[in-house]
Amino acid sequence: MIVALLNQKGGVGKTTLALHLSGQWAREGKRITLIDADPQGSALDWSQQRTREGLPRLFGVIGLARDTLHREAPELARDADHIVIDGPPRVAGRMRSALLAADLVLIPVQPSPLDGWASAEMLALLAEARIYRPQLLARFVLNRCAARTVIARETAETLADHDPPLMSATIGQRVAFADLAQSGRLVFEADDNSAAAREIAALTAEVGRLAP
Ligand SMILES: Nc1ncnc2c1ncn2[C@@H]1O[C@H](COP(=O)(O)OP(=O)(O)O)[C@@H](O)[C@H]1O
Ligand SMILES: [Mg+2]
Repeated sequence: MIVALLNQKGGVGKTTLALHLSGQWAREGKRITLIDADPQGSALDWSQQRTREGLPRLFGVIGLARDTLHREAPELARDADHIVIDGPPRVAGRMRSALLAADLVLIPVQPSPLDGWASAEMLALLAEARIYRPQLLARFVLNRCAARTVIARETAETLADHDPPLMSATIGQRVAFADLAQSGRLVFEADDNSAAAREIAALTAEVGRLAP
């Protein structure tokens, strides 16, 4: 399966979730390649940091910030169980290419009282891609969620009736994600039993159930 983490908004958790989904699958024995489609190269930096820290390689990360992603991703998919694409920024050509490559689009969003979870442009590009690829799956993922706040609940309720629908698994606002990323580590490597690690495992399992 090719999963793309997309949202033209920055800072919503595309890279964080792409790394953790890949890492969780890798520890379950899956062969994963992560494509860093962002010219900023945060996933590539993370991978390099990991090497510097002497940590074992969990999955390969390659940089492919090009509009030809949809041609290269299926080729890479032949040698892997899953491909995870850490999405491009606001460039329509890149976004189109990622949408053409993907089997599943995950749109990380943060709880917000406004209905600005994904840009209208992003949803328009998704609708456009689905004309050609009606089998393309898409889901919102609620990230940085403070479970007991009214905003989180209201966002989840609003997105429940939304198309694309919301994943049941949500990821909390947890400082471990940011802290561990600095040293190239994933939350389950620090504490397998942490809330963050359990949330990632649940999200990964739910993604697995969507597999075509
Ligand atoms: N669930 C979370 N809890 C706490 N911090 C988070 C969480 N998800 C992401 N972050 C932090 O927020 C920042 C932006 O996340 P990032 O994954 O880089 O977003 P994007 O790739 O969409 O720009 C990073 O510093 C990251 O560590
Ligand atoms: Mg990023």
